[in-house]
Amino acid sequence: MYDCPVDGLNIIDVGAGNGFLSHYLVECAGANSVEAVDNYEGKGSPSYAISIIKKMQEVLGNSEHVKIIKSDFMKYTPKNKSNCVIFLNVLHHIINHIKKELGVETSKAVETVLKHAAECLQEGGKLIFQEFMNHNYYLLPFYRNFVNSVDYKSKIPFEIWEPTLKKIGFINVKVRYRLPLFFSTRSDLRYLFNNRIASLLTDSSFVMLAIRA
Ligand SMILES: C[S@@+](CC[C@H](N)C(=O)[O-])C[C@H]1O[C@@H](n2cnc3c(N)ncnc32)[C@H](O)[C@@H]1O
Repeated sequence: MYDCPVDGLNIIDVGAGNGFLSHYLVECAGANSVEAVDNYEGKGSPSYAISIIKKMQEVLGNSEHVKIIKSDFMKYTPKNKSNCVIFLNVLHHIINHIKKELGVETSKAVETVLKHAAECLQEGGKLIFQEFMNHNYYLLPFYRNFVNSVDYKSKIPFEIWEPTLKKIGFINVKVRYRLPLFFSTRSDLRYLFNNRIASLLTDSSFVMLAIRA
């Protein structure tokens, strides 16, 4: 993974869905093991996604390294603390659920889930998540349909993510926007576009990285 090595790590892939990331981490990115945790209730991906991750596991023969766990993340505690927790387009689903269930504000729900992620991590463990920003400057006409289908205003702003991570005790909090793939080999351009300007060109989702102190 770009600038975020996962070699040898024991990772919890929260909301693994059909499992393409879980299997990729083990098969291609050098992760030691992945716990693919998903409640498979059909919120965010179809409930049959579990049959896809299982089928891939069968084909790849990697059940020693990829463990499929059907559970609500908030009710899941790993046997051994992990050294990396990843949420790929998942946090907002869990946060919305906490808001409804507990009747709390967004910031409290964010704190609740990130605290639980911290509890699953060893000291020095990595937290990585991808989410959408709460605004979008997408100007390219061929992307407009997609933009119209996303309610950007409902997304959580950095003004909540960053201070909450720091309050819980995460350090080295970094954010980077997702860039068009052809930039991945041009580190000079990546540096230039690694800020809000990037959302003019791409879909304004971002990746946050933080370390559990
Ligand atoms: C948008 S999908 C993302 C799937 C996958 N990470 C990907 O990027 O393709 C959101 C996933 O989060 C899962 N999910 C939602 N709430 C969850 C919870 N409380 N605990 C575990 N998984 C959850 C859903 O079942 C769904 O598979």
